[in-house]
Amino acid sequence: SAAGQFAGKHIVITAGPTREALDPVRYISNHSSGKMGFAIAEAARAAGASVTLIAGPVTLPTPAGCTRVDVLSAKDMHEACMAAVGDADIFIATAAVADYRAQDVQSQKIKKSNDELTLTFVKNPDILASVSALSSGPFTVGFAAESTNVADYARDKLKRKNLDMIAANDITASGLGFNSDNNALHVFWAQGDKQLSAKPKKDLATELLGIVLERYQYKNNN
Ligand code: PMT
Repeated sequence: SAAGQFAGKHIVITAGPTREALDPVRYISNHSSGKMGFAIAEAARAAGASVTLIAGPVTLPTPAGCTRVDVLSAKDMHEACMAAVGDADIFIATAAVADYRAQDVQSQKIKKSNDELTLTFVKNPDILASVSALSSGPFTVGFAAESTNVADYARDKLKRKNLDMIAANDITASGLGFNSDNNALHVFWAQGDKQLSAKPKKDLATELLGIVLERYQYKNNN
């Protein structure tokens, strides 16, 4: 999007993985690098938005001019998002949030003993669904990481989470998605869809924001 297109708009973006502790030394997480979300933050700032970037544990530098909030767990990310979206115009959820966390985080290191170890996990709050459930909340854009039936699952998430838009990526495509510099997206909204072909995440971010602006303006009649 060209300079100034998002002037006066506050965009909150989640990025990266979450980290769910098992004990003082171990956790479960995933391969998200934060690159997709950080690229969107950078492009949104370049287009004039005020940007809050809520980042899980990643090793990327903060894009110039963005306000960054670092978090570890899904619960932390949920809290940080709910605190940030109060005056947000647009919420974009690129983070790969852990769906479950350990029911009990052990206060001592789990000892090696039996041949099998069973842990119980409980569901984490769904951050995106919490934001889209707010009355007069922001325009919501979800991501969907899918390995089969990409379009069907994405359309289902769009409806089920009551989103304005969803950007789906096929995580089985080689060289795209998690922890790579390139990605391809299939974007869906209630009235249509658009395929964005494989390219650097930075360029994809600009294209995606072009669609976000169009749909945001359509929804808000301006
Ligand atoms: O970080 P990179 O290495 O650049 O990789 C980018 C990416 C592959 C992580 C990104 O493009 C992507 O697909 N992000 C979404 C990953 C994901 O976990 O998707 P999901 O289908 O499980 O979740 C659907 C949506 O709900 C996502 O917008 C997610 O942020 C959100 N969600 C999920 C669970 C939860 N508890 N809270 C959420 O907000």
